[in-house]
Amino acid sequence: MPKTDKPDTRPVVLLTGASGGFGGEFARQLEERGYRLILHGRDKPRMLMTLHNLKAPKSHVCLYADLALDDAREAFIEKVKQYPGLYGLVNNAGFGVWGAFEQREIKPQMGVLLTDLVAPVDITHALLPTLRRNRGFIINVSSLAGESPLPYMSTYAAAKSGLTYWSEATRLELEKEVRVVTLSPGPSPTGFRDVSGMPDGPGSRFRSRARLIVEEGLKQLDRGGGFCVPGNRHKLLYYIQKITPRRLALRLMARYLRR
Ligand SMILES: NC(=O)c1ccc[n+]([C@@H]2O[C@H](COP(=O)([O-])OP(=O)(O)OC[C@H]3O[C@@H](n4cnc5c(N)ncnc54)[C@H](OP(=O)(O)O)[C@@H]3O)[C@@H](O)[C@H]2O)c1
Repeated sequence: MPKTDKPDTRPVVLLTGASGGFGGEFARQLEERGYRLILHGRDKPRMLMTLHNLKAPKSHVCLYADLALDDAREAFIEKVKQYPGLYGLVNNAGFGVWGAFEQREIKPQMGVLLTDLVAPVDITHALLPTLRRNRGFIINVSSLAGESPLPYMSTYAAAKSGLTYWSEATRLELEKEVRVVTLSPGPSPTGFRDVSGMPDGPGSRFRSRARLIVEEGLKQLDRGGGFCVPGNRHKLLYYIQKITPRRLALRLMARYLRR
């Protein structure tokens, strides 16, 4: 009897920002859970590193797009729409720009708003009919930067607070149909700091590893979705943010981030 290739019926998950720190870890942990992955990024060599670190690279596909560009984003969405088995969406791509708002160029700062806030909203809206039909899930990778204004990283905090509010609101709208996790980590040693242009420093005492952050986000998904501040260090930081009066928090963060 001739051997026939069985069609791959495993549920598909789209992961944006797969070439970076959290992205590589999401790819690994999602593959372990048995998903086929659509890996998204811009940097081909780093995307291929993520792909080849997986157990079955041939099962997954890579798509490339700059999510800050309307045309590229729309073309990317159209390609993903061709997967009727899409079951999960991880809106992970993002970056921040460090420095005084007036002194940094406007284009990258607009890029932060477009990549970290506009793109997840746009991508999710387009893919929701499929995710709803498949009773799937969404993980929005936000940040504790979205919990208070950040002098010298103002557009990043603006984008992430918008993302958190939108993600939490839609989580309730989609309850019982699509599980939504709003993942809000604090600092973690990934490529994020270098990309932001922040000068080298000792790094925050609250840093946690990508592995733990992703594990906690996926556990929250297993609980049916929800707002997730991962790990004890980030929970402590979140608690401090909540009890510190805004006037004082602004001054402290300005001093810490001005450098
Ligand atoms: N690390 C932290 O301290 C921290 C804390 C809280 C939240 N976060 C959030 O976690 C997410 C992942 O960041 P990370 O820490 O893993 O940083 P990272 O290592 O710098 O990875 C960022 C990822 O986002 C992608 N990306 C950035 N701009 C893009 C654009 N315009 N279009 C398409 N893709 C773009 C990058 O793709 P290419 O490299 O291929 O361009 C890369 O895959 C981000 O949303 C970030 O805001 C990070």
